[in-house]
Amino acid sequence: MKLWEGRFAQPSAKSADDFNQSLSFDKKLYWHDIFASIAHVKMLGETKILPAEDVEKICDTLQSILADIEGGALAIEGAEDIHTFIEEELVKRIGVMGKRMHTARSRNDQVATDFRLYVKDSISAVCGQLHALISTLLEMANEHIGHIMPGYTHLQRAQPISLAQYLNAYSEMFLRDLERFTDCYKRTDVMPLGSCALAGTDFPIDRTITAKLLGFSKICQNSLDGVSDRDFVAEYIFCCSTVMAHLSRFCEDLILYSTWEFGFIEISDNYSTGSSIMPQKKNPDIPELIRGKTGRVYGSLTAILTVIKGIPTAYNKDLQEDKEALFNAEETVKSCLSIFTELLRNVTFRTRKMHNAAAGGFSTATDIADYLVMKGMAFRDAHGVTGRIVRYCIENDKSLDKLDLATYRTFCELFDEDILRKVRVTESVEARKAIGGSAKSAVRENIRSLTKRLNKLCKD
Ligand code: ARG
Repeated sequence: MKLWEGRFAQPSAKSADDFNQSLSFDKKLYWHDIFASIAHVKMLGETKILPAEDVEKICDTLQSILADIEGGALAIEGAEDIHTFIEEELVKRIGVMGKRMHTARSRNDQVATDFRLYVKDSISAVCGQLHALISTLLEMANEHIGHIMPGYTHLQRAQPISLAQYLNAYSEMFLRDLERFTDCYKRTDVMPLGSCALAGTDFPIDRTITAKLLGFSKICQNSLDGVSDRDFVAEYIFCCSTVMAHLSRFCEDLILYSTWEFGFIEISDNYSTGSSIMPQKKNPDIPELIRGKTGRVYGSLTAILTVIKGIPTAYNKDLQEDKEALFNAEETVKSCLSIFTELLRNVTFRTRKMHNAAAGGFSTATDIADYLVMKGMAFRDAHGVTGRIVRYCIENDKSLDKLDLATYRTFCELFDEDILRKVRVTESVEARKAIGGSAKSAVRENIRSLTKRLNKLCKD
């Protein structure tokens, strides 16, 4: 049966039905559809649009349909979409009374309402996962405040940093993602129900009742916009996209750091794979897959933005495309966050190797230049002097912390005994005490601030 077949003299073609259907993917919304229908019908009762007996019977039957779906007694199949499926099942069970459920409602405001309810729940779930990831990172950072690693720019050794400072950088990124989702929640938390097909309804409905029952904090104020606003879908997928971007960057680091060439980390055997031909290999397949899956989420973002851009005002069937785009992004981001957090807990840091790498490669050259500036030289000149010292070291196979004072003095008279301490990586890291820097005190403060912001976000 079609909800709309009254106007048609001919049945629709099977191929057209197959193409039109959304049940194969929107069946995911069954819980939210039933939840929203119960609230709608209760409101129809309170406003005397439906008699109390009908309301009770319809709500009870919707509950039993829900129980049958969840218990496996009722398979979701054979209808155009989830809304049609539930309504048909209701009519099968209680006859004509079931047909009253759709009074003062259209599938246009129904689907928008169901989907917003679904997305609100999904945001809460992803935020929970981000919270778990950031908590893991903060715990790890706490353990590594005193450990030093090389920091890179252009993938060239740049300056020594603290391992905890490195981990905190990712906490900052994921905390921004958490903030973005929290913000997206506010715009998702707006109820379209009552917009009906596009123009509102001539029934004396009370939208505040349904909003309260459904837990929406706002009601959309324009029915045309209410049925067709999918900004929240685009925003949600954008939020997923930045999570993936951050995961992908982190994975890129882990992949590099786990090579023999770097040797900074080891991913435990449980989260690594081997090669079918090269027995010596241990491959970082999981981080590679996460990096690779990022493209799917960006693809979903492009898809929804493209769907939105062309539609004339109010509902058009293009909008049915919103669901698969969001479900795909959601599934990818959830599975990646889950496996990544697990994997991270199974990473061992080779802190000695990191420290030695930081000590080589002239990573304290900037400290020498800064030293000369503090002694009164202009930074550009100091940069030149230091560059010549580095060149001398390269040509003579020496490192900055192995030169003696006399050698330093051949480059500049301003050098004193204290330069020999200045060029040590531990000194360099400890010297950066300002907010955000690598010194232990600054890194501890970063951890404190991250913890505070995380707790505050999760309370709001
Ligand atoms: N399955 C449809 C969707 O996902 C439900 C709304 C149908 N509305 C309509 N006017 N055909 O968008």
